[in-house]
Amino acid sequence: MGHIQITPSILNADFARLGEEVARIGSADWVHVDVMDNHFVPNLTFGPTMVEALARSSDVPLDAHLMIEAADREALAYVEAGCGSVTFHVEAARAPVRLAREIRAHGARASMALRPATPIEPYEDLLAELDMVLLMTVEPGFGGQRFLDLCLPKIRRTRALMDKHGVETWLQVDGGVSLETIERCAEAGADVFVAGSAVYSADDPDRMVGELRARAESARA
Ligand code: DX5
Ligand code: ZN
Repeated sequence: MGHIQITPSILNADFARLGEEVARIGSADWVHVDVMDNHFVPNLTFGPTMVEALARSSDVPLDAHLMIEAADREALAYVEAGCGSVTFHVEAARAPVRLAREIRAHGARASMALRPATPIEPYEDLLAELDMVLLMTVEPGFGGQRFLDLCLPKIRRTRALMDKHGVETWLQVDGGVSLETIERCAEAGADVFVAGSAVYSADDPDRMVGELRARAESARA
């Protein structure tokens, strides 16, 4: 299992001042950018041009989460925009193996996301192709939703498969992660934690990043 990492999502930040919002989370490991196309999910955010501007303005590397139908065609644009990690959804990708290899070949970490109802077992043999698996713990599309406890067994099963294959793949959880739910995720085997509303609704977002990190680390110990 990798070390604990906190990746705040800017989905609930102020979109009119994104540069300043990202500067408020200097101790984060990555900035999680939620790209939505209004097809894969019923919400629309931003595209590669804006992500590129954000990458230029931030010292913290970008972790792009692509909630888009055209993953096979558009994922590389986010590598070129400067993201250090690019996550596509397995429900959208036509050729996930090819896509993961392309992302890696262009120099970014390749990651695959699963919606809450998508099982991990059919993808066991793909784990070695991936730098990270993202397990959604809400239905993707919006920040501020309630954490789905029904995802916890899948987090455990995914960690067990990673151990079985001896891979270095990180396990990220995304959706409803807060001071209240992060321990359950860490105990189940997650090592990378997205938190949107928990971080950006705090008076001091960077301090919340530290509190989330401390809580995940103590749950693991
Ligand atoms: C949801 C996004 C998440 C979301 C997390 O579709 O993928 O990254 O912004 O926000 P919270 O932490 O508020 O659930
Ligand atoms: Zn996300």
